[in-house]
Amino acid sequence: MHHFAYRDGALFAEDVDLRRIAAEVGTPVYVYSSATIERHYRLFESAMRGIDPAAPAPHVFYAVKANGNLGVLKTLAALGAGADTVSEGEVRKALAAGFAPEKIVFSGVGKSESELAFAVGAGIFQINIESESELELLSKVAARLGKRQEAVFRVNPDIGAGGHAKITTGSAANKFGVSFEEASRLYARAANMPGVRMMGLAVHIGSQIRETEAFEAAYAKMVGLVGSLRAEGHRVDRLDLGGGLGIPYEIPKDFDHGPSLIEDYAAMVGRVTKGLDVELGFEPGRLIVGNAGILLTQVLHLNSRPTKQFLVVDAAMNDLLRPAMYEAYHEIWPVAEPAADMRKLAYDVVGPICESGDTFTTDRLLPELKQHDLIAFMTAGAYGASMSSTYNQRPLVAEVLVKGTEFAVTRPRQSYEDLIGTDRAPPWLA
Ligand code: LLP
Repeated sequence: MHHFAYRDGALFAEDVDLRRIAAEVGTPVYVYSSATIERHYRLFESAMRGIDPAAPAPHVFYAVKANGNLGVLKTLAALGAGADTVSEGEVRKALAAGFAPEKIVFSGVGKSESELAFAVGAGIFQINIESESELELLSKVAARLGKRQEAVFRVNPDIGAGGHAKITTGSAANKFGVSFEEASRLYARAANMPGVRMMGLAVHIGSQIRETEAFEAAYAKMVGLVGSLRAEGHRVDRLDLGGGLGIPYEIPKDFDHGPSLIEDYAAMVGRVTKGLDVELGFEPGRLIVGNAGILLTQVLHLNSRPTKQFLVVDAAMNDLLRPAMYEAYHEIWPVAEPAADMRKLAYDVVGPICESGDTFTTDRLLPELKQHDLIAFMTAGAYGASMSSTYNQRPLVAEVLVKGTEFAVTRPRQSYEDLIGTDRAPPWLA
C-alpha cells in the first residue's frame, strides 16, 4: 500500500496536492510519503520480530543506497531503524541523519583503507568483510587505531536471484563475498588477527526478488555453514540475511494491503533458522522506500510522427535511470485524474537527453495528454534519486518529503552556480 491517491480529480501525496508541489518547487521533483515509509518499516520490523518473539529483536538495517535523502533517513532513524551502508559517504550520511554508530553496518566489495579507518574510528556496529584482502586490511587498520572491530564474513552462496541480471549478487560469477568453500579457512585465520573479532556471517543474493525459494536455498546453506563453523570451535553469534525483497511495480487496482511476501519471508526465515540461536539481521532497501516515492514531471512537448507519438517530459534518465539501465517498468499516472472513458493513446515517453536510451517506456497506453500536463512515475522511491546524475549538465533533481498536510524540500534542485562553479579551470587555461 502507498499514500498516493486521487482526490477531487487530482493526485495527492498524503494530504498534499501534487500540483502545489510542482508549482512551488518545479519539476522534475521526487516526492516521498512519510506515512508509506513508516508503514513499510513497521510492517517489516514487526514481522521479523515475530519470527521468534522470545529472542532479542532482530536488527533491521535500512539499505541507505536505496534512498539516501536526509529526510527519508531521519524518518527511519526516528523509528529505530539501523543503517546498511556501502561507502564512507553513506556512513557519514547515516551518522548525520541521527543513526547511532552501534546501528550501522558497512558492506561492499571495495572498501578503501581510509573508508575502513573512518568506519572503525566512528565505532560502527559491524563490518561485512567481502574478501581475504579486506580482512587483512581491516585488521591492520583497526589494530593501528587500538581497536578490535566486530565483523562478519559476507559469503557468496552461489545462489543468485533478482529482477535483472545486473542486480543479481549471489551467484559465484558475481563479485560479491568470500566463497562458501573458503569461509571456514578465513574464519580460522581471522581468529588470530589482532584487529577483528568475527561475530558471524552475512549473505545477500540479489534485489527485487519476489519469491522466497532462492532466499530459502541460500539461507539453508548459511545455516549449514554456521553449524560447521561452530563444530570447528568458532563462535558464530550473528547471521545477517541481507535485503532483496521485491515489490510490485505493476500496481493492481485492488492492491490495498502490504505485500504478503513479508509474511511468507518471515515464516520461511523462522523455519530455516529455528533453534539456531543467532542474532538475525536484515538489510531491506527497496521494500521500505520503493513505493513511498514518485517522480513528478511535466510534459514539455508532444512530437507526433506518422508512426510514433513521443511524449517528451522534463525528467530524463539522469533523474531516473532504472528504465534505461534495467529495462525497468514504472507505472505512469497523470496528475489530473483521467475520466474512466477517456481516449487512450500509445506513447513513447522520453526525456530531453541526447541519446535514445533516454526512453522511459515505449508504446504505453495512457490517457490522452497535452503540453504542460503533469504526470507521475510511480514506485520511484528506491534507486531513483539515489542513482541520479548531472548528465547533459542537468542540475541534480529536487526532492520533497510529505507528512500529512505538510511538505518540505529535503534537497533543493541543484543551482546552476553549483553545477558549474565546482569545476576548476587548469592554470594554463585560466
Ligand atoms: N544489502 C546489500 C549488501 C545490497 O547490495 C543491497 C542492494 C541491499 C542490501 C538492499 O537490497 P534491496 O532490499 O533494496 O533489494 N539499483 C538497482 C538495485 C541495486 C541493489 C543493490 N544492492 C535497481 O534500481 O533495481
